[in-house]
Amino acid sequence: MTPAEQSARALDVCRLAPVVPVLVIDDLAHAKPLAQALVAGGLPALEVTLRTPCALDAIRAMAEVPGGVVGAGTLLTRADVKAAKEAGATFGVSPGSTEALLDACAEFDLPLLPGAVTASEVMHLLERGYTVQKFFPAEQSGGAAFLKSIGAPIPQVSFCPTGGISLKNAMDYLALKNILCVGGSWVAPKDAMARGDWAAITTLAAEAKALRA
Ligand code: 3PG
Repeated sequence: MTPAEQSARALDVCRLAPVVPVLVIDDLAHAKPLAQALVAGGLPALEVTLRTPCALDAIRAMAEVPGGVVGAGTLLTRADVKAAKEAGATFGVSPGSTEALLDACAEFDLPLLPGAVTASEVMHLLERGYTVQKFFPAEQSGGAAFLKSIGAPIPQVSFCPTGGISLKNAMDYLALKNILCVGGSWVAPKDAMARGDWAAITTLAAEAKALRA
């Protein structure tokens, strides 16, 4: 899958809702009800970070939830890309990008939302054909002001910023022309998951969904 084809798919995913939940799942039993709660609240695109031992099994479980579009986050290596694809991830997200990672996404046909944080990184990915990129860590790297500025010389790249974003500042990003959606973990708090309070997570998802009418 070419980078342009990957970005076309990433664009579709990013247009599903204003927020992509970034999920760190410690307990496999949480995967399915968590996905159901988020989809019920209006957030279908779900990024499961490969940071916990059960992440790949969580992707497998969540891929069965009707209406969900499940991707794998924190992709760092070729092996991560291969495993994510085999687990049923339909898109991938990486904090940055390396040649090996980009090559792996082409090899395994996994649409990637690759991370960039400087003008040169954005340009490098654009040169390869990636017109949809992740901006991470967003708040720590200049936030919405940075993305507004980079949109002037490089308007052909659209972003999904993540890192430090919540209901409070999400609109700063979503108001910009070159922002498709934002990513964030705030819609799936660890304490709500531990309590099994899926209704609370649906409420948080619905609030996030309402960021865009
Ligand atoms: C991450 O990869 O951790 C995401 O960027 C989420 O960041 P957040 O926890 O600040 O929302």
